[in-house]
Amino acid sequence: DWSPKSFIEHQIEEIREAAGEGTVICGISGGVDSTVAAVLVSKAIGERLHCVFVDNGLLRKDEGKKVMEFLKPLGLRITLVDAEDIFLKRLKSVASPEKKRKIIGRTFIHVFEEQIHEEKFLVQGTLYPDVIESVSVKGPSETIKSHHNVGGLPKRMKLKLIEPLRELFKDEVRAVGRELGIPEEILMRHPFPGPGLAVRVLGSLTRERLDILRNADEIFIEELKKTGLYQQVWQAFSVLLPVQSVGVMGDKRTYENVLALRAVESSDGMTADWAHLPHEFLSTVSNRIINEVRGINRVAYDISSKPPATIEWE
Ligand code: XMP
Repeated sequence: DWSPKSFIEHQIEEIREAAGEGTVICGISGGVDSTVAAVLVSKAIGERLHCVFVDNGLLRKDEGKKVMEFLKPLGLRITLVDAEDIFLKRLKSVASPEKKRKIIGRTFIHVFEEQIHEEKFLVQGTLYPDVIESVSVKGPSETIKSHHNVGGLPKRMKLKLIEPLRELFKDEVRAVGRELGIPEEILMRHPFPGPGLAVRVLGSLTRERLDILRNADEIFIEELKKTGLYQQVWQAFSVLLPVQSVGVMGDKRTYENVLALRAVESSDGMTADWAHLPHEFLSTVSNRIINEVRGINRVAYDISSKPPATIEWE
């Protein structure tokens, strides 16, 4: 019978068997999946696991610092790589979502490769829905969205894959994480896409636009947490639109950016309904963002469901 405890015991044996005497590398993102996968592997092989956290400059506000703080007590051996400059340089003037994903995927491989020394295995926090979706969207000629955290990496690096979570759904991963003693703060985080804020600043990126988005999104998430709504939605985030709108501030006309807020209910991300957040709440968030974030003078709420829309805008 499946239980988090028996799953962990079984996986520890499997991981030990798979890794043998070899050393293992793991890219961690601060999300639930990679954290649970890393902690599980470190339970099995201890210091032979080397974790790498790549700050690609596309993360939420103070994310690198926060993640390192959360992960410190878990006893993982972690290298933090500051790669903001190289990512932003390569993404300069790139507007197409698929091109962004490809560049980010390639750059990640490049940066990650430099961290590999004698490791023979790569841990990935791939879940069951990732496996399904990456298979089912592959028509004869194209993929709907190339989820860069599935595939690509190991082949070129001659690393063998360890994917201890590939048969689990998100809820099961959280249960396993809880059993492993991972803090709720990490376990209950919303999913965050590999390409990060690059697909939430629509069109081409600049550091300035990324910062505008970061400041706005921090307010949205902070208010969601304050009101307890954060745990009621499956994912929530802000999107900076490549659109300017006219507004008025004091007696001055403004011509600034439009921000979209997105919050969805879902069980696995494959389908989703827009979350019916209370109007009072939306009003508070909108007022705070327009008053506190320079560069935004209008906030819209996305009321599309998946399908036919997707959760992300790019
Ligand atoms: P969509 O937009 O396809 O998103 O409805 C479904 C879920 O997947 C996340 N997402 C991604 N995750 N790399 C990722 O690791 C990606 O390129 C990517 N695109 C979307 C999205 O945040 C949502 O949770």
